[in-house]
Amino acid sequence: MEKIVDRVGYEGGGMFPSELLLFIYFCDKRKVDTIIESGRYRGYSTAILSEYFVDKDIDIYSIERNKNTEVEEIARKKVDNNNVEFKYGDSTEVMKRYVGGRTTALIDGPKGDKAVLFAAKLMKHNDISLVAIHDLYRNRFARNMSELIFNHKYYSDNEKYVGEFKYMDEKCWHRAGDNTEPFQWDRKDIGSYARTLGVFLNNDPPVNKQAEENIYEYLDNKQTEYKYNNTPLYNIRNQLQTQINEGGPVQSTIAGGILKIGRKILP
Ligand SMILES: C[S@@+](CC[C@H](N)C(=O)[O-])C[C@H]1O[C@@H](n2cnc3c(N)ncnc32)[C@H](O)[C@@H]1O
Repeated sequence: MEKIVDRVGYEGGGMFPSELLLFIYFCDKRKVDTIIESGRYRGYSTAILSEYFVDKDIDIYSIERNKNTEVEEIARKKVDNNNVEFKYGDSTEVMKRYVGGRTTALIDGPKGDKAVLFAAKLMKHNDISLVAIHDLYRNRFARNMSELIFNHKYYSDNEKYVGEFKYMDEKCWHRAGDNTEPFQWDRKDIGSYARTLGVFLNNDPPVNKQAEENIYEYLDNKQTEYKYNNTPLYNIRNQLQTQINEGGPVQSTIAGGILKIGRKILP
């Protein structure tokens, strides 16, 4: 793996070698037939996977949402083995086309809540052996969600794991961006060594159904609240209320009158 990391050369925006190593370890352990990556960008993770599995009988599909971007050429140059097929589209819609045999999925776009709920859905597919999600550092709601939902989980920010493998990432920090160092990303305290890969095994049962349902309900309520708070009528009501509270006597009386008449239609 060290030789591959040196040969491939890090690309900013990419996952770190120690994180990819965790994914590769589980792919080996699970004897996979197919690897599907979601979120290719400049092709760093794709190139590492391609190089590592080059002599194995494994199909690798790499899905990127955006076609014909500037970074497409960079990714094509980076991956020069023919064990990877480049695919396009929103992976939450197209990924299932490529599932075949024992399959692992590496999600590095979409991110956050969306990635966690997508992974939980993928777990319902019998051929999916494990799903890994990038960007699950501790100071993030999606990390908490993943800890609640998945029953069989490993994170690359595990202290022992970091102690053992952080040396692999040494050359990447300066390419990852200014103000970026362990436990910090863009000056933000992330509570984890790096952006962090979570690996979730599809062992029986892979998902805590009650937690999954509660999270869907919580997100639904949040969305309803958001929609409600952003309706034009809600804004009018708020403006009238502000005028009643803060306007002069005339303005306040007029606003009060309008609000009284409008109460039937204003939320
Ligand atoms: C952080 S970059 C990926 C970096 C890459 N995995 C690496 O380690 O080198 C995230 C990428 O995910 C892509 N992406 C975001 N949402 C996606 C989706 N729903 N389906 C496919 N690709 C997506 C973005 O366009 C972006 O190129």
